[in-house]
Amino acid sequence: MVKDIAPKAGLPANFLWGFATAAYQIEGGATADGRGPSIWDTFTKIPGKIAGGATGDVACDSYHRTDQDIELLKKLGAKVYRFSISWSRVIPLGGRNDPVNEKGLQYYVKFVDDLLDAGIVPFVTLFHWDLPDELDKRYGGFLNKEEFVADFANYAKVMFTALPKVKDWITFNEPFCSAVLGYNVGQFAPGHTSDRTKSDIGDGSTEPWIVGHHILIAHGQAVKVYREEFKEAAGGQIGITLNGDWTEPWDPNSEADREACDRKIEFAISWFADPVYFGHYPESMVKQLGDRLPSFTEEESQLVKGSNDFYGMNHYCANYIKHKDTEADPLDTAGNLDVLMEDKYGNSIGPETQSGWLRPHAPGFRKLLNWLNKRYGSPIFYVTENGTSLKGENDLPMEEILEDDFRVEYFRSYITSMAEAVAEDGIDVRGYMAWSLMDNFEWAEGYETRFGVTYVDYENGQKRYPKKSALEIKNIFDQYIGKV
Ligand code: BGC
Repeated sequence: MVKDIAPKAGLPANFLWGFATAAYQIEGGATADGRGPSIWDTFTKIPGKIAGGATGDVACDSYHRTDQDIELLKKLGAKVYRFSISWSRVIPLGGRNDPVNEKGLQYYVKFVDDLLDAGIVPFVTLFHWDLPDELDKRYGGFLNKEEFVADFANYAKVMFTALPKVKDWITFNEPFCSAVLGYNVGQFAPGHTSDRTKSDIGDGSTEPWIVGHHILIAHGQAVKVYREEFKEAAGGQIGITLNGDWTEPWDPNSEADREACDRKIEFAISWFADPVYFGHYPESMVKQLGDRLPSFTEEESQLVKGSNDFYGMNHYCANYIKHKDTEADPLDTAGNLDVLMEDKYGNSIGPETQSGWLRPHAPGFRKLLNWLNKRYGSPIFYVTENGTSLKGENDLPMEEILEDDFRVEYFRSYITSMAEAVAEDGIDVRGYMAWSLMDNFEWAEGYETRFGVTYVDYENGQKRYPKKSALEIKNIFDQYIGKV
């Protein structure tokens, strides 16, 4: 008898799938109707920071094209849409004593109503990296605990009040990136780094840890407000979205490399997830960082512990990890190890893409879901981002861009890996949002890297053209949904 050894794959009947975007990457309308600048508006104006000198001033012009975006979502069969709010559109100066911009607020009120009318669930991120610039200038933004936490909690409350129909909230998107890329590498706004060739300000050995700490407390405070005043009436849920890649040892026979694999995930993910689930930082980080890692007061620890109704997971790729024997550099943020694309034998973890950090390796998705599920006691998961760029895509003629078979394969293999984690391993994944609904402003890479399932013609009025992957995702989900 031939035994069928292919893993089972399936997703529950009520599984939510759709697409994700973020405000600064798609909205444009940078000064429309009273919006104030964010740190990204300021950062993009500094020469040399963004590929091609690009900004988010116009981007996909979604501020003026919500009807087109909703039509697109309907056409693709999406059940859920994850988007983020531009804080400085709603409170242009950002602070708790600063005026609310009614027009900015109403933009989101109407958008949520329109999505619901179209039968699409709005999954709302409060913060996707675009801090109101004034708060950075006024008191150092994330670096000032008292002010930042109070201002974020106030902003969150303004949004919870204005959008009572929203049932799914994300506080912060990828705090790792705000902290490390914004305050160590200096590649993201506000561009702090110890590298004086890039910036006059910043201390990459301390600031990322302080920023991460304050974001965690702000997350805890916003969740407290939501749970005490809104959750019950809305019947809603709230969580934080964390990014992290899977890790494989550079030398599979090295115990030190295998340990370094876990340490890498701890520095990337558990930095935030351990406080959220356990109320304290991972031991590996305390050991390496010592006093540079802030500590929680008892009250803060209690605030942050248990603050996730669900685990928001952004996941793209995997790396080989090689331990280092030397003492950790004070500027190290990865766990004193090398993050590599090839193993000891020269095997690549996956094919190259346009993004230097991203090589697809789909089995890692199931493995990371299992790693997180075990460590954090079987939480409810929502995959809030997963997707890929394509090497050289931007240089192709549009007809070829629309035939994005590489991206189709990426989604097929990653969604299958997730569906195996659900059907074989019993992991409770309730939703999946592909990154991204459309090509958009890819941060420091400007518009040269495309992550969309929809091509955006920036030269001709931001017109949207679905690529093959946009239409295939529905078929992939149809194959799995209702099969567990
Ligand atoms: C971010 C997105 C970004 C994507 C691709 C994620 O880390 O949340 O804003 O565009 O990765 O780089």
